[in-house]
Amino acid sequence: MKPTSTHKILAISGSLRAASLNTTLLYAIAGIAPVHFHFEWCNELAGIAPFMPGTPNEAAPGPVQALRRQLLKADAILISTPEYAAGVPGVLKNALDWIVSSGELTDKPIAVITASPGMGGGQLAMQALLPTLRIMGGQVPDSLTLQAPLIGTKMDAQGKITDTTFRIQVLQLLQTLSEVIEKQQTMPQQTGELS
Ligand SMILES: Cc1cc2nc3c(=O)[nH]c(=O)nc-3n(C[C@H](O)[C@H](O)[C@H](O)COP(=O)(O)O)c2cc1C
Repeated sequence: MKPTSTHKILAISGSLRAASLNTTLLYAIAGIAPVHFHFEWCNELAGIAPFMPGTPNEAAPGPVQALRRQLLKADAILISTPEYAAGVPGVLKNALDWIVSSGELTDKPIAVITASPGMGGGQLAMQALLPTLRIMGGQVPDSLTLQAPLIGTKMDAQGKITDTTFRIQVLQLLQTLSEVIEKQQTMPQQTGELS
């Protein structure tokens, strides 16, 4: 399908590490994405306070409000995250917990990559993250997920994707994301009112 619109993508890395492979991968993907993809970067995760249940949405801390604004503006989200102790990194889950009640992920197309230097490809992080994103209303079909084992062997020292098969997988993921965005934008908007 030929894209008819610009796609605003919010890229979120689940790692705060300066030399993060996941963050590097997101930049590499932005570098090879078709021109109709416009990337914004979420730099808020480190500054988001531990989730405090019962906080009114309007009283949430500034970094949470900033993340909510970024999510609202985006046509889709692209997450790349490592697996920590067989689960989702705490900073990412913490940020998502703040979004549960404000609902910015409702109907939002989300592509999820779990990248790990080991053989596992972050499979358990993927298994843990998908139900969270889906219960929050995110549109995450299985075709928008990609596990990337041995990620250190698939990029060079400059952070470029060098593995041909993986590059094709990434481009396919972006193509699918584009189709999901286009399909969603042609659907009538929900008003929340019952007829
Ligand atoms: C606290 C911690 C727990 C980890 N647990 C796992 C794990 O369960 N599975 C896995 O594949 N890698 C695990 N790793 C290794 C990470 O996949 C590896 O450090 C990876 O490079 C982190 O992603 P980043 O490069 O984007 O920071 C763990 C690393 C840390 C620091």
